[in-house]
Amino acid sequence: MPDTTTLTGEAFSRTNFESLLKRRFFFTESFEVYRQAGGFKGDNRGLYDYGPPGCALQTNIVDQWRKHFIIEESMMEVDCTVLTPEPVLKTSGHVDKFADWMCKDPVKGEYLRADHLVEGVLETRLTKHRHTLPAETISEYEEILAKIDNFDGDELGELIQRLDIRNPNGNGEVLPPVPFNLMFKSSIGPSTASPVYLRPETAQGQFLNFRKLLDFGQGSMPFASASVGKSYRNEISPRSGLLRVREFLMAEIEHFVDPAAGKRHERFSEVAHIELPFLDKDTQLSGKTHVTTKTIGEAVASKMVDNETLGYFLARVYLFLLKIGVDKNKLRFRQHLANEMAHYACDCWDAELLTSYGWVECVGCADRSAYDLTVHAKETGAPLVVKEALPEPRKVTKWHATLDKKKIGPQFKKDGKKVQDAVEVLKQDSLEALAAELAKKAVVTVPTAKLEDGATSVQLSKDVLAIDQVTVTETTREYTPNVIEPSFGIGRILYSLLEHVYYYRPQDVARGVLALPIAVAPTKVLIVTLSSGQQFIPAAKKISARLRALGIANNIDSTTASIGKRYARNDELGTPLGITVDFDTLKDGSVTLRERDSMAQVRASEDDIIQAVRNLVEGLESWEQVSSRLPAFEGQSQVA
Ligand code: ATP
Ligand code: GLY
Repeated sequence: MPDTTTLTGEAFSRTNFESLLKRRFFFTESFEVYRQAGGFKGDNRGLYDYGPPGCALQTNIVDQWRKHFIIEESMMEVDCTVLTPEPVLKTSGHVDKFADWMCKDPVKGEYLRADHLVEGVLETRLTKHRHTLPAETISEYEEILAKIDNFDGDELGELIQRLDIRNPNGNGEVLPPVPFNLMFKSSIGPSTASPVYLRPETAQGQFLNFRKLLDFGQGSMPFASASVGKSYRNEISPRSGLLRVREFLMAEIEHFVDPAAGKRHERFSEVAHIELPFLDKDTQLSGKTHVTTKTIGEAVASKMVDNETLGYFLARVYLFLLKIGVDKNKLRFRQHLANEMAHYACDCWDAELLTSYGWVECVGCADRSAYDLTVHAKETGAPLVVKEALPEPRKVTKWHATLDKKKIGPQFKKDGKKVQDAVEVLKQDSLEALAAELAKKAVVTVPTAKLEDGATSVQLSKDVLAIDQVTVTETTREYTPNVIEPSFGIGRILYSLLEHVYYYRPQDVARGVLALPIAVAPTKVLIVTLSSGQQFIPAAKKISARLRALGIANNIDSTTASIGKRYARNDELGTPLGITVDFDTLKDGSVTLRERDSMAQVRASEDDIIQAVRNLVEGLESWEQVSSRLPAFEGQSQVA
């Protein structure tokens, strides 16, 4: 386990931390009663249910995400279906390439993700046997670990053999790595003729609605779409709790940008001064993992980060993570190595958060170039492009294809439209090559969408297809936008955040505190009565109702436990504020307000305290401001 410390610098105990999350029902493994009854066979790991505080925290993180990205950037939100027909994911490349390398332990019958196996075994050797390992072995292992994401299946197989890496469970040898596709497959309807997959990302739904979104925004570029929804991945060996699950909430942005303008971003100057911690690919390839801090302006100017739009989003992701309470000392941006990059990406930076499980990728920021729109346009013939009016008309000489429509109908019947579409989407370089071919041969082959007989191309002869050079005056320009995609795994962020904000008070080691910012805390205010006496209940209920009317989540605790204990129970839930109703409340209507981390209290009239709570929740005032303007309070009198 990496040597992580709590917010207050104490040693982090995952046992105590997890016991808190479990006891207070942040989340739990799904179907627990069946698991406990031993009713499950096979592998049912990686499935989790959230309890009340987990749900509220997740909702609040997503709410902050919507404000920070969708509202701030006027993004266009869509909500698309999870069930995705096979042709869509075949075209996107996921059917063939969305796979991890997997090794089988034939004796135990266990399946292991190959890179995680190598990583885990080498990390254990380094931790347990560092003092007996030769210096060159230590540096070899460290170098392998620094570029673990860059190895393909053959290379992982070679490492497993050469370094005698075995299944830590039983020490059995494993078979060579084979690819395992991570998508869940099913079919729609009673027949199996319509295969579908549960989507592995929300992105494809956004790409396929590109034209509608462009029209909705009156053709204005650049623009971004966004989506929040569940995605599914059949992970080979889910471990590490919420960090690697098979069903998870994703929040994704697809920012469509004109590549000809160098992927500049209009608002880049607003973030250029922000310093980020970077771990770039060259550092990793040299076997090192140290972070370099520089401004995003410098990182883009030196081309370490490819372009302004990607840089803009890295900075915005950073600000978002800090806003919800992530510890800036446990955050870095790691660049993907060439082999690690998804099949569609040309540059990618992950926001990684340090947890007791090590550095965890929580937000992937990829430059997907024009990959997705191009492949879907090619497959379907749909014009997934932008047509933009030119400032000045311009004369251009270009290749132009003409089909003899009178012949196309009779010759191709139902396929006629697809043949026309296929010719219409031919790019200039293809037209030039086809013109040269037509000059030499009687027929040429043109790729098409799938035809009635299953073919994906047609043969066109000179008498139906002519390709000539023409000079035209253009008033519009056509291009396929590039896409910059920040992709957030909400569960990973939520778990890492909880580790970051967790601490315990020396006088109460067993109970923790979650220093969640007010904006994301599940409940904002705990209302406690001085004792369980009925006389305090009406005042507590009135305050609760007033806060509810303002949309401020609160709870009343009027049990017999001491006030300290009641506050401690709510510190565990991350409740930032506490209002106490006591004898003075009954006399003069005043109440106290306590802040979770300092445990400091102020006292004022009910109206003033409610106004202060409102300001704190809406971010209009900080606790420092509230506590400097309202009178401090030292302790309740226990009698009337
Ligand atoms: P890893 O290498 O850890 O498997 P990945 O590179 O496959 O992750 P991406 O494909 O970039 O992850 O997914 C985008 C985001 O979705 C990640 O940053 C992460 O927050 C989240 N995510 C991906 N897989 C999972 C999972 N199995 N469980 C929870 N969140 C996930
Ligand atoms: N859409 C990003 C990913 O799936 O990695």
